[in-house]
Amino acid sequence: MSEGAHDSNAHVGTATGRQRRLASPIPLVDLAAQHRALENALREALTRMLDTSAFILGEEVEAFEREFAEFCGIGHAVGVGSGLEALTLSLKAMGIKRGDEVILPANTFIATALAVEAAGAKPVLVDVEPERYTIDPALAEAAVTRKTRAIIPVHLYGQAADMGPILDLAAKKKLRVIEDAAQAHGARLGEQACGAIGDAGCFSFYPSKNLGALGDGGMIVTGDADLAASLRVMRNYGQSAKYRHQMKGVNSRLDAFQAAVLRVKLRHLPKWNDSRRRLAARYRQELEALPIALPAESEGAVHVFHLYVVRVEDRDGLMRHLAELGVSCGIHYPVPIHLQEAFSELDLKEGAFPVTERLSGQILSLPMYPELTLSDIDRICEAIAGYFASPPA
Ligand SMILES: Cc1ncc(COP(=O)(O)O)c(C=O)c1O
Repeated sequence: MSEGAHDSNAHVGTATGRQRRLASPIPLVDLAAQHRALENALREALTRMLDTSAFILGEEVEAFEREFAEFCGIGHAVGVGSGLEALTLSLKAMGIKRGDEVILPANTFIATALAVEAAGAKPVLVDVEPERYTIDPALAEAAVTRKTRAIIPVHLYGQAADMGPILDLAAKKKLRVIEDAAQAHGARLGEQACGAIGDAGCFSFYPSKNLGALGDGGMIVTGDADLAASLRVMRNYGQSAKYRHQMKGVNSRLDAFQAAVLRVKLRHLPKWNDSRRRLAARYRQELEALPIALPAESEGAVHVFHLYVVRVEDRDGLMRHLAELGVSCGIHYPVPIHLQEAFSELDLKEGAFPVTERLSGQILSLPMYPELTLSDIDRICEAIAGYFASPPA
């Protein structure tokens, strides 16, 4: 999208309170903008798919696996049906099963915990760090028992978790490390890509992710050739050769059609992540003086701002004000996993994870997608400043 596509008549709108409603509303995410820019290349890829009619695994999936592994700087990538399946299959392929425990952060999308359940193991939640919002390594260490087999750090919102102490803990206690990199395509920690640091890294290609398909999709990356080989068998009915089933596998293959789309999009990902970082820098510049906590970027890490999450005391008031002016926001996530009905059997009450619980009442995801313009960010920030200039009584 060209700079200024939202700009026409930007300041002509209807008045709400002291501020004017934006003439063109700003969504939280705008997938159509991305697809308009790639339309020809996407149509070409889809036509190629129709011509070959090779819809299950095959060349497109293999090519995308090679290209994504290279992007992550690691030896192997295995395409699967979703991010949830990437996590579940990684746990299963590592032999994690009923009776085992797996440590993960309380502040994450529910899929991280559901994957542990799906593998038959017990999810052990721990609280997160107050500034980075990712798993607190000291609390993870305190949660290790004789039954602990693995730890899943989540690179939440596009920022790497504190991997150094987690890798040390894993080495000391002989735990496997599975990175949940569903929100962190292209994020880095020092020289390494998120996903390529632990024993396996799991990605989601849900449409709104930094690299998103036109439907569901997922990927596991690993440097372990044996693990990659079992994952390839497991995702395809446990077949080692046609109608030869070496294990009880599942049907969770990355769609060839989605692989063709993702190959087109992968070429743009570095540029899109740069754009997200530029937009984040503008948010910081414009919001720094306001009573809002802005996302912290860790030393030596490259945050790819899948989401731009701020913290504010009266989150709901600000969110309502922005909605009235035409700025859509989100909350990731309003109810922590341990307070969800689905996990009531964990028997964890309010107060179990104070940082996560406080975050759930204060976090607000502001619009963030690569096609946003700097002037869009300025308008969003003006709307936010207006709220603090005259907050509701
Ligand atoms: C942190 C995290 N883990 C796992 C997933 C699951 O991915 P999917 O929706 O592709 O199953 C998602 C995204 O939806 C996510 O944000």
